[in-house]
Amino acid sequence: MKIVKTIKEVKDFVKNCKKQDLSIGLVPTMGYLHEGHKSLIDRACKENDVVIVSDFVNPVQFAPNEDLATYPRDLKRDAALCQAAGVALLFNPEPNEMYFEDFHTYVTIQSLSDELCGKTRPAHFTGVCTVVCKLFNIVTPDKAYFGQKDAQQLAIIKRMVRDLNFDIEIIGCPIVRECDGLAKSSRNTYLNSDERKAALILSKAINLGMNLAKNGEKDANKIVEQMKSLIDTEPLAVIDYVKAVDANSIQIVSEMKPPVLIAMAVYIGKTRLIDNFIYEG
Ligand code: PAJ
Repeated sequence: MKIVKTIKEVKDFVKNCKKQDLSIGLVPTMGYLHEGHKSLIDRACKENDVVIVSDFVNPVQFAPNEDLATYPRDLKRDAALCQAAGVALLFNPEPNEMYFEDFHTYVTIQSLSDELCGKTRPAHFTGVCTVVCKLFNIVTPDKAYFGQKDAQQLAIIKRMVRDLNFDIEIIGCPIVRECDGLAKSSRNTYLNSDERKAALILSKAINLGMNLAKNGEKDANKIVEQMKSLIDTEPLAVIDYVKAVDANSIQIVSEMKPPVLIAMAVYIGKTRLIDNFIYEG
């Protein structure tokens, strides 16, 4: 496996692959890889001749008060995981390789970023769309892999690809969880042992919501309210949002007319965690 730092090296590698008619899968990440990322990488390795993983903590998607400086990084470990999985190229650029000092072009998606994380983090999805758009232009993959863990991000990327005519198939992959139910996340490393226990309230609320939906509750607000009440029983948890939205348009719904995405962001201490499920009917 090659580890490269420059866009030119990626483009040269891609050119060579295309000459040989090899299909390319891209897995965009911010590194500190875990089993969730690995599930995307494994699927990409199965479905493509060549897999490229990007490992880049994208400064543009963090607000000034967020955790850019403390976001966990471990390139050595990431490289070992990628190598073992069969990745061909690991792209680990510095911020100044991706963004010129006078960089002024951003990709903004409307409407789908109005609710959920987009409401709490107003510039976040512009940062995500901009970097993903750049990675798509640099790598020109056949397929790109994203996790359902970031359900709003996945819906937004799918829409961006359609709206901007990228010839890339977007593959959504299921949420990978710890044995006790907590969704895997690079940010779980911020939790101390009490917070780690408290964080289970997210997946418990997800299970409650899923069961209510499965058992025929049609009122989305009732489901959301019961999930919120459960989360409120955990003293270390502070709800940012729990909402039911149409899974494609990311607009608020009051009726459980599938596909409905029920998503949440909850602070456990200072750490903001997200989780979700989709009710398919
Ligand atoms: P990051 O948080 O590193 O996640 C990279 C990819 O891994 C995303 O598509 C995310 O949904 C997926 N992922 C993370 N945890 C997962 C889990 N527990 N189960 C399944 N998939 C999981 O998301 C980003 O980076 C960035 O916003 C990025 C798209 C790379 C743009 O900078």
